[in-house]
Amino acid sequence: MTTKFLLPESELPTHWYNVVADLPSPPPPPLGPDGKPVGLEALAAIFPPALIEQEVSAERWIAIPEQIREIYRLWRPTPLQRAHRLEQALGTPARIYYKNESVSPAGSHKPNTSIPQAWYNKAAGIRRLTTETGAGQWGCSLALAGQLLGLEVRVYMVRVSYEQKPYRRSMMQTWGAEVFASPTTLTNAGRQTLEKHPDTPGSLGIAISEAVEEAAGRADTNYALGSVLNHVMHHQTIIGQEARKQMAMAGDYPDMVFGCCGGGSNFAGIAFPFFADKAAGKAVRLVAVEPTSCPTLTKGVYAYDYGDATGLTPLLKMHTLGHDFVPPGIHAGGLRYHGAAPLVSQLVDAGLVEAVAIPQLETFEAGVQFARTEGIVPAPESTHAIAATIRAAKECAKTGEPKVLLVNLSGHGHFDMSSYDRYFSGSLQNYEYPDEAITESLRQLPKVG
Ligand SMILES: Cc1ncc(COP(=O)(O)O)c(C=O)c1O
Repeated sequence: MTTKFLLPESELPTHWYNVVADLPSPPPPPLGPDGKPVGLEALAAIFPPALIEQEVSAERWIAIPEQIREIYRLWRPTPLQRAHRLEQALGTPARIYYKNESVSPAGSHKPNTSIPQAWYNKAAGIRRLTTETGAGQWGCSLALAGQLLGLEVRVYMVRVSYEQKPYRRSMMQTWGAEVFASPTTLTNAGRQTLEKHPDTPGSLGIAISEAVEEAAGRADTNYALGSVLNHVMHHQTIIGQEARKQMAMAGDYPDMVFGCCGGGSNFAGIAFPFFADKAAGKAVRLVAVEPTSCPTLTKGVYAYDYGDATGLTPLLKMHTLGHDFVPPGIHAGGLRYHGAAPLVSQLVDAGLVEAVAIPQLETFEAGVQFARTEGIVPAPESTHAIAATIRAAKECAKTGEPKVLLVNLSGHGHFDMSSYDRYFSGSLQNYEYPDEAITESLRQLPKVG
């Protein structure tokens, strides 16, 4: 009975996969405030040329520079594991596999893109990077990349996470980054928000505004985004490419693939390489899992909106709850984003990707069951995908179907134990964002066309 399916380093993917090549229609372009497609020069203020090229590329494969593959080898290929003990506990005939992205130095899938982003910026002569972070996983990943590649990193960390996760801040500082609780008084965006809402828990949208504003104002500084953009989705596809090979080693192919969805990158990472099979006629269901408190894919609209809270970014066609939507301070900080990746949104809109929203308590219950059977304490974000997998496995127990379920364990929860504490003490609650509040926030959507 094999538990771990391990690839040798020689099997590390040589290319990132670009799902644009297999989409049923070309992706709608980013627009400027005038409603016209943005020129690439507008992006050049904050991104290096190579990443802009990847952002708009329709090429199926993008070669991974050898120096990036060398750094990937610090933790990749990551293991694919069969969750025998979880299956037993659930009494399910389903075969459950998880791709373990928690083995990276930062503890999640995020270094898969922080390393290439830092590398391309360095190659373009950039000296500093700014970014936002929610849960702290992305901030840590960029801090790590900055340290390995010799770039200064400044992180705007959403205030509620800064307070919930002090050790994520220490970790970023250990890797040499500067960290501030957002909103700050360092930027116009931060000052404006604090004036209106001095007690705000912060949001990824506000922190992005701060990081973009600083990068746009300094020639030596660029901005790095941990999710949402096309190039980030491409970088993460090494997860699914490895998983496809490992599923073949196991002699199985997934009926359903699950990933939690904040901005969409770990979901895209595991799911897009299987979408390539789906586009070629294979029957595989791809399921993005989000919290009921921030239900971007299940209750948001597919429309043009800003990627940040104050409207500094181009307009992206995506599922959105409205750019000034501030989700409640739930314990999956990385899933508190008003939008979702345009590529994931387009596939949801086309009915090719399914979306489901799960309440907080069910996700922690799933996380604890996973920890008690498989041993790994999952990040609160990842518990969403695990909860959806458990729902499907329980369904199989009822029907007797031996489905093959593949889930992305996007990260571990070692720095999220205060959230688990609150779950154990009974002080966590479910929260369903009221429909009226969503309607109100959607009223602020920019008018396009
Ligand atoms: C462990 C983990 N999983 C998932 C996410 C959500 O991001 P994405 O949807 O881009 O994968 C985050 C974001 O911080 C995270 O830290």
